[in-house]
Amino acid sequence: MPDRNSMIGNMKAKDKVVVLDFGGQYSHLIVRRCRELGVYTELLPYDIPVEALKDGIGIEKGKIKGIILSGSPFSVHEPGSPRCNFEVLDLEIPILGICYGAQLIAHINGGVVGEGMKSEFGRAELLFKDSDMFNGLTESGKINVWMSHGDVIEQFDGADIIGHTMNTPVAAFRIANKYGVQFHPEVHHTDKGDKILWNFLYKICGCERNWAIESFITDKIEVIKRVVGDDGRVVCGLSGGIDSSTTALLVNKAIDDRLTCIFVDNGLLREGEKEAVINTFENNFNMKLVFVDAKERFLNGLRGVKDAEAKRMVIGEQFINVFEEEAIKLGNVDFLAQGTIYPDRIESAGASSQKSSRIKSHHNVGGLPEKLGLKLVEPLADLYKDEVREVAKELGMPLPILNQHPFPGPGLAARVIGEVTEDKLRICREASHLVEAELKNSGWYGKVWQAFAIVGDDVATGVLGDARSLGRIVTIRVVESKEAMTADFVKLPYDVLESMSKRITNEVKGVTWVTYAISSKPPATIEPC
Ligand code: XMP
Repeated sequence: MPDRNSMIGNMKAKDKVVVLDFGGQYSHLIVRRCRELGVYTELLPYDIPVEALKDGIGIEKGKIKGIILSGSPFSVHEPGSPRCNFEVLDLEIPILGICYGAQLIAHINGGVVGEGMKSEFGRAELLFKDSDMFNGLTESGKINVWMSHGDVIEQFDGADIIGHTMNTPVAAFRIANKYGVQFHPEVHHTDKGDKILWNFLYKICGCERNWAIESFITDKIEVIKRVVGDDGRVVCGLSGGIDSSTTALLVNKAIDDRLTCIFVDNGLLREGEKEAVINTFENNFNMKLVFVDAKERFLNGLRGVKDAEAKRMVIGEQFINVFEEEAIKLGNVDFLAQGTIYPDRIESAGASSQKSSRIKSHHNVGGLPEKLGLKLVEPLADLYKDEVREVAKELGMPLPILNQHPFPGPGLAARVIGEVTEDKLRICREASHLVEAELKNSGWYGKVWQAFAIVGDDVATGVLGDARSLGRIVTIRVVESKEAMTADFVKLPYDVLESMSKRITNEVKGVTWVTYAISSKPPATIEPC
């Protein structure tokens, strides 16, 4: 395995809070809220051994000042429902259980958790007692909170009941150093949810403020300098996306021209992307950039390949080959910088508590570090996408890169259904450009997660002048999402859709029909391949 810890070993240990993930839909949100409140927080699997928590496990080893137990789709009564090691509850560390987490604390400590009798979904009025958890909320002793649960804690003898709603007799409790709330303080529909989490982090756990983007940048630059040393050389696969671009900027700030970026034109890039990347990094930031025109070899490799996964494999392999050749040409390279971010890392480490099947093989330069004996530098490995954007902004990243939509590793091939041919790629590229242009014209670009055009092998009849003509069908896909785990199609106004459709059929040669994808994720994925 590549040395993933190369960025961590020398890092100053940070006090932190950990969220144990029981598979709840808001687990990541809890982590993000705590970080927004200024405390370094990590997500760990619910069944982490208690010894690990005592030793300060995680990306950054450090003393654990508080533990939060997340929600879960399970009932504590279900056979096989997730349980943490019970000794975790005996640690001398304050614990906050949220929803399922609260029910688990109650269940283990003799409370009565009723099954699905009085479920609550949506807003509810919480009547709370003044307590360290709810200190400084409202004079009235009431707030609106967000509920999303089937089971209810009906009774919890021995605990101090500090909050209830009409349907939930034990909506908040304290028992020794353990707290539980049935509602979700991390969801913005809960009034004063931030204040409740703030009370837990600062008043109850005694955390110090230790998480801010400015200090992250200064710290990380120091770490990169130390890890890479005075003579180390680094290569970075630059795609022009926000993650690899920010990685390159950070590493460049730390070691200047001992970083070489490799930018590969695989023929699957967006309109104008090649020129924009070269201009930004070579001319604007004055960085060492090796440009490789590998269009032909990628397209040759893709010839005749129709299956989506097979296409991803070809692209991954070609990428590794090109990269390997270039790294060997450069010689004396010790490190590979990658734009891995926190959700990628969690997925690959299997920290999520849910059993998940592989839907798509996301490719990076996996395999290469072992082959070439490179150590990994992953300075963004503990950041969420929006935190990466903050870092990028702070580092002076130009707005077009900062505000661009995510773009998949396999590029336009993820949007060409069936065999990838030059003609289908041209249609996909030109039509996607028009979709983006019309979104920008109408002010929608910044409001959506991703927007692009898809093309497959289907053709439909059209009429050109007075003659029948057969042309491709292009599908427009515009989605809104947070973190891409789920997504909804955007209900764009008809006039925006109409202008996209008109421009595509008028300006992209060979297209007769335009359709709009109205599937959400799940069951669909965002990209068609
Ligand atoms: P799906 O299509 O799985 O995509 O719903 C979720 C998000 O991931 C992006 N995506 C990729 N990103 N390498 C990447 O770096 C990949 O191979 C890849 N495939 C999909 C996709 O654009 C969406 O934002």
